[in-house]
Amino acid sequence: VSRVRTLHLQRAKDTGEKFSMLTSYDVLTAGIFDAAGVDVLLVGDSLGNTVLGHGSTLPVTLDQMITFAGAVVRGTNRALVVVDLPFGSYEESPEQAVRNAVRVMRETGAHAVKLEAGAALAGHAAAVVRAGIPVMGHIGFTPQSEHALGGFRIQGRGDAAAQLHRDALAAQDAGCFAVVLEMVSADAARDVEQELRIPTVGIGAGNVTTGQVLVWQDMLGLRTGAMPRFVKQYAQLAETAHDAVAQYVAEVRSGAFPGEEHSYRG
Ligand code: KIV
Ligand code: NA
Repeated sequence: VSRVRTLHLQRAKDTGEKFSMLTSYDVLTAGIFDAAGVDVLLVGDSLGNTVLGHGSTLPVTLDQMITFAGAVVRGTNRALVVVDLPFGSYEESPEQAVRNAVRVMRETGAHAVKLEAGAALAGHAAAVVRAGIPVMGHIGFTPQSEHALGGFRIQGRGDAAAQLHRDALAAQDAGCFAVVLEMVSADAARDVEQELRIPTVGIGAGNVTTGQVLVWQDMLGLRTGAMPRFVKQYAQLAETAHDAVAQYVAEVRSGAFPGEEHSYRG
């Protein structure tokens, strides 16, 4: 199988096809998702929440991203691997953004980076693109700016649609090969997808975007409890794992495990 490239994602947009993106943070899930046909794997800084147990993405460091991203790259044959530049690793200057994007590419073997860059940080994204590194933009609700945005709120509604358009065009003009639209009204997302030449990737942005992305622990039900409206759960892994482990605990207590077939003799 040959590797998905950014040009294939552009071709999907140009021919009216869709592509799928899913997060991954380790070698085994990367291999499963790659074999299942996911086109783009995102090593998201959402790992701050879903792997490390933080309440936000803000504590995640570049070194942590590089560790997880290397594992994901090693698990894939086909998917394009995109790595988030975490909070604090690209905001200071275009030079800082290039330096840290270069580290990600060099130390992980990934194929692109993602920056939460709209109009405000477009120059930083453009500098990374000039360095020869494909950049995915991310606008709408941007979790690294949670405190500036006033919490988890739908973006692009009413008057805010104009800002969403400015951010989208700035990302495109910076040379981004695609842009994530997170938690924006489906109407605003449709308008942006139609206005841009590059593909948009939606999460909570309706179904008109060229791509869709979800966080894997949400969509496979490894995480439980309240889910955002945009999450569809395709499996219930937490329940499956809980029941299997409870059976293991019971069999250890009763002596049923290990059986003869799991023991060595002689
Ligand atoms: O970190 C992440 O998982 C993301 C996606 C939600 C787009 O940025
Ligand atoms: Na992210």
